[in-house]
Amino acid sequence: MNTFCGLDFGTSNSTFGTIDQNNKAILIPLEDGKVTIPSAIFFHFEENRTFLGRAALNEYIDGEFGRIMRSLKSVLGTSLMDEKTQIKSQLVPFADILTSFLSHLKATAERSANQAFEQVVLGRPVHFVDGDKEADLLAQDTLESAAIRAGFAEVQFQYEPIAAALDYEQSVDKEEIALIVDIGGGTSDFSVVRISPERSERYDRKDDILANGGIHIGGTDFDRKLSLETVMPHLGYKSKFKPRAQTANFEKNFSIRKSVSTDTYTESTEMFMPSSYYHDLATWHKIHHLYEKNTIGSLNDLAFRVANKNLIDRLLKLINRREGHLLAIDVEQAKIDLTNMQKTAIDLDYLEKDLSIDLSINQLHDAVDNEVDKIQQQAIATIEEAGLKRSDITKVFMTGGTTAIPMVKQSIESLFPHTEIINGDKFGSVGMGLAIDAMRKYG
Ligand SMILES: Nc1ncnc2c1ncn2[C@@H]1O[C@H](COP(=O)(O)OP(=O)(O)OP(=O)(O)O)[C@@H](O)[C@H]1O
Ligand SMILES: [Mg+2]
Repeated sequence: MNTFCGLDFGTSNSTFGTIDQNNKAILIPLEDGKVTIPSAIFFHFEENRTFLGRAALNEYIDGEFGRIMRSLKSVLGTSLMDEKTQIKSQLVPFADILTSFLSHLKATAERSANQAFEQVVLGRPVHFVDGDKEADLLAQDTLESAAIRAGFAEVQFQYEPIAAALDYEQSVDKEEIALIVDIGGGTSDFSVVRISPERSERYDRKDDILANGGIHIGGTDFDRKLSLETVMPHLGYKSKFKPRAQTANFEKNFSIRKSVSTDTYTESTEMFMPSSYYHDLATWHKIHHLYEKNTIGSLNDLAFRVANKNLIDRLLKLINRREGHLLAIDVEQAKIDLTNMQKTAIDLDYLEKDLSIDLSINQLHDAVDNEVDKIQQQAIATIEEAGLKRSDITKVFMTGGTTAIPMVKQSIESLFPHTEIINGDKFGSVGMGLAIDAMRKYG
């Protein structure tokens, strides 16, 4: 039996693929018969257990005492990699949490497939970090050592859009110059590749990869923008401070704290509630910063400066109840609702009786307009880097959860009015392609 596999460790979802007895790429069921698993981990403090995927989210939503983490991949290559996370009485380095996620994923796949997996091809975005080669290399090295520590004997990497191309190549019947589009949770990646049934047999495909390009924008950025534009103002974002005379005493006390947060101090000399708290609360992998003692202390102080204290009271209630991720889950769901509805609402009754925020498709469009534009520019730039014109592209292959958003899909489609657009398996294509690549590398 093959012991190689492909692992698509995604910002939002992960999959685990291998090659079956009929030499076909397959994805292994990881949870409740499903082949995708949310990239979420929950450390249950009372039971001293670790939960993965939907189970992790459910434990957290049910209010179990512990720590939920999502979007771990977004931390790779950033300064947050040096942070430690409080898990009960221990301060755990990020690398250990990553290892814990990967080893649980490996164990889950091995249980499901009833076999061991030793060699892995891990997917990677074209850039973990935009415009910083050193940080990018560090991100890959960190992921590689986590995979080794998780128990894999051999680890190699493949670009995620190239993996998607390998998956798509299984279904082509003639040579194509394809633009592969993978717009996921954390990144938007593009490859221009020459694919064909004959070429798929070749080991070395370097000459067939005409260009790779990527940008660090994905669905989690859409969540953040939507949250900041529509939800956070109800929790005090952009709130005005009271006139200074009314807060003179506070200013005296507040100056003691200014060393705690320079951002708070800088912005406090202006007229508005500091925005950094809201940016953290709207960013999956930064939410836990709000739960730190210093932060809660500063926010309690700031509450007295804000003209509409009620809004900060909502924020403090959310933080004290550690429901930041709950809000992020609701915002993400609202974004998903708006892919096929004109309107939806986020129920915040748990913060304040009858509090509900109405959202419309136009608000989503306004919130993410810039991001969609940048993604489109990256598609154009990747084709140019290949030395081609758009009309040279004979097929466009789309994958990644964020391509479900009509505005995103149309922004790519509009570039290719005469080219056939193929909609791949949004969540499975990269994992399948990594399994195919694993067979080439280890089979
Ligand atoms: N129906 C939908 N409408 C809009 N967005 C969706 C839908 N379904 C999923 N998404 C979004 O797609 C993203 C996840 O996509 P995907 O699973 O392809 O990403 P990923 O592989 O985890 O991330 P990456 O490849 O960037 O590391 C999330 O931001 C999610 O909210
Ligand atoms: Mg992906």
